[in-house]
Amino acid sequence: MKKEFTTCPTSLADMETYGFSWMDFVTAIPSPLFLVTSYKENGLANACLQSWASFVGDNDGFYCILAAVNTAGHLYQTLKQRGDAVINFMSGEYYGRCSQTIAHNGYGQDELAAAGLTAKPSVLVNAPRVDECFLNLECRYAWEHPLSPAGTHATVCLSVHHVAMEEAYLDETLQGRYGPSGYLYNIHRPVNPLHRGVEGDALAVLTKLRDEYTY
Ligand SMILES: Cc1cc2nc3c(=O)[nH]c(=O)nc-3n(C[C@H](O)[C@H](O)[C@H](O)COP(=O)(O)O)c2cc1C
Repeated sequence: MKKEFTTCPTSLADMETYGFSWMDFVTAIPSPLFLVTSYKENGLANACLQSWASFVGDNDGFYCILAAVNTAGHLYQTLKQRGDAVINFMSGEYYGRCSQTIAHNGYGQDELAAAGLTAKPSVLVNAPRVDECFLNLECRYAWEHPLSPAGTHATVCLSVHHVAMEEAYLDETLQGRYGPSGYLYNIHRPVNPLHRGVEGDALAVLTKLRDEYTY
């Protein structure tokens, strides 16, 4: 039987949501995790751990839709000032270092060096690549739209101009892109509104259900 929710369930009324909607926690839809790097106006490396994004292409190009970029953060500032960024996908092995960039988020800090990560120059854009990440997407700012009238976050589209992927990840018969060392997903605090069950963020990887779609 389906449970229906239009308004915030009373069991969640006093829950700290840190600016998210209660629907975030009831649905708890996983999204890919990656580190977006750019240069601050002072030339130091900026890093912003991000989730809530989608990647899609058409005949014109390949695009990343960053669903919610904090308009008060450095990433948003650097995108407006320089327009270039790199999207870096880390395996679980490097998640700790990538998330350490949050603790070193000062304007005067080289956030990659402070987190023990290695910056490498990009091929096309003016933003640092993270060497430890298995996939680097060199991007340019394309457009943005406010996520909602709240105005705290912008939905930003980046166009991808160059792809660099570790060779072993390219071959699905060898290491491939999924499994324990592949793409990471953010599971953001699932809650059970019926009786406030287990709550907690989690890190996930993908396990293939089967190798072909069947209809
Ligand atoms: C798992 C996880 C996912 C995050 N996703 C986003 C996101 O999608 N958008 C965002 O603006 N901040 C996100 N953050 C917060 C930023 O990583 C953090 O505030 C960062 O230090 C901001 O960097 P900046 O000042 O360079 O923008 C996330 C944090 C975590 C731990």
